[in-house]
Amino acid sequence: MKKLAALLATLGLATTVFAGDVEKGQQAAAACAACHGADGNATLQPDYPKLAGQGAKYLEKQLHEFKSGARDNAIMMGQAAGLNDEDIENIAAFYASLEVQHAAVPAQYIELGKKIYQAGNPSTSLPACTACHGPTGIGVDAAGFPSLGGQNAQYTVAQLKAFKKGMRANDNNRMMRDIAAKMTDEEIEAVAYYLVGLH
Ligand code: HEC
Ligand code: HEC
Repeated sequence: MKKLAALLATLGLATTVFAGDVEKGQQAAAACAACHGADGNATLQPDYPKLAGQGAKYLEKQLHEFKSGARDNAIMMGQAAGLNDEDIENIAAFYASLEVQHAAVPAQYIELGKKIYQAGNPSTSLPACTACHGPTGIGVDAAGFPSLGGQNAQYTVAQLKAFKKGMRANDNNRMMRDIAAKMTDEEIEAVAYYLVGLH
């Protein structure tokens, strides 16, 4: 068992798979419900993100980075300021345990949105989103790729434009900044609305 624990620790799995108490996380997240919804589905404000079903490792990274300012957002810096490492782990486990609600994709976005998501745009060397975020949009949390399926479209549009302008700069190796820089506003909008239904 000791060997297994050491191996998991080396892979960085021990903290992400076994840490985080869902019940304590729910208590610590009471103040978050006003904007992100009691079930993590953020239905009140279309530009506030859903957190339900998001990967725990990704959520932890974002909360630490709001706190440090590496992800620059005044509202969330204030919200994350009072959270310690344990609160962050528990809150991440809580939201990861919830189910994201999907919506219907408006007809005008299906064709272009699907094309961008599944194949990118070869004429501008835009890579397919599916390569990292997965064919069903659920991401690969262990690799730091967030879930995108079901997310509020206005929030997704805002994030892609923020990456494009370099205003969101917390992506390792500029991964999303370099991708968003290749996208037109039309492609951003289409893929964002396509994602509301992807699962
Ligand atoms: C007053 C409204 C408000 C409250 C309260 C709030 N948030 Fe947020 N949250 C936001 C907004 C707005 C964003 C989007 C920030 C941006 O544009 O970068 C956000 C983003 C996030 C993200 C990033 C999501 C992603 O997909 O990258 C996480 C994680 C998060 N909030 C967690 C929390 C937690 C945990 C709490 C409670 C401790 C909380 N929030 C309280 C408004 C709020
Ligand atoms: C090479 C891998 C890779 C590819 C390809 C990729 N992404 Fe990402 N994406 C990432 C990573 C990594 C992050 C998380 C950055 C961070 O740590 O904050 C991310 C984050 C995002 C976010 C922010 C999620 C949130 O909740 O705030 C959006 C939106 C997004 N990607 C959309 C796309 C779209 C659309 C495409 C296709 C055009 C795409 N990505 C292609 C790796 C990738």
